Amino acid sequence: MGSVLRILTVGDVVGKPGRDILIRRAREIRERFKLDFVVANAENAAGGSGLTPEIYKAIIENGVDCVTLGDHAFRQKAIFSILNSDDPRIVRPGNYPPEAPGRGWTVLEVPATAERPAVRVAVGALLGRVFMQPIDCPLRAADKMLDRIPSDVRARIVDFHAEATSEKQTMGRYLDGRVSAVLGTHTHVATADETILPGGTAFQCDIGMTGPFDGIIGRRYDRVLETTKTFRPTVFEVATGDARLNGTIVDVDSATGKAVKIERLVFRADD
Ligand SMILES: [Fe+2]
Ligand SMILES: [Fe+2]
Repeated sequence: MGSVLRILTVGDVVGKPGRDILIRRAREIRERFKLDFVVANAENAAGGSGLTPEIYKAIIENGVDCVTLGDHAFRQKAIFSILNSDDPRIVRPGNYPPEAPGRGWTVLEVPATAERPAVRVAVGALLGRVFMQPIDCPLRAADKMLDRIPSDVRARIVDFHAEATSEKQTMGRYLDGRVSAVLGTHTHVATADETILPGGTAFQCDIGMTGPFDGIIGRRYDRVLETTKTFRPTVFEVATGDARLNGTIVDVDSATGKAVKIERLVFRADD
């Protein structure tokens, strides 16, 4: 067995409440949970939709190593400048068209510590297509991605941004034994099914949301209710209260890439 890498993946960061808890507390969370590497899905970090270069920089300079994106990846076009640059710390869904800005996977180095040498980690993002916009097959996109990731990079995290639990479970099984973790995002509600599949891949349908829990998946309840009852469009403003960080910690054997432990994390603003 190689050294163990502790990797936290943070669920969809929503608006100011979400990015505040992440930016202010990520370094402390790293220390407290002895984390080696932190990934955060920031697709909703700017006003609840998309990501700006300023917010990206604040996240990446304050304890997060890699940012992933989902179906809201391109809501703020300003992020194209980062996606089109050679910055390897941000990925958008890998089953987007090849012409789309950015990359679908990346390999980053986790610096050496007193206990272990430097280790490389691959991070990839994929979008589901059940109850979502039509897009290329995520399973075939996953195969292509894994063909390109260097074979000696054993620690591999896949953010599968999808709606349906069945589609997420299918991806988990499909990649079992080929990646360290398949972690679902997008629904903003964490599921209690975290497990290690038979081939050694950590799996969870959804790792939840980092944002205001006093609302409807991060939006103001009154606005959602108005539109639900009357069909009158409203602005689904980001909610404000009860900020929490949701994420999942996976311990990965750096020699084999297999997960040895998976654990959900809920961190409240007053923790
Ligand atoms: Fe989201
Ligand atoms: Fe999403």
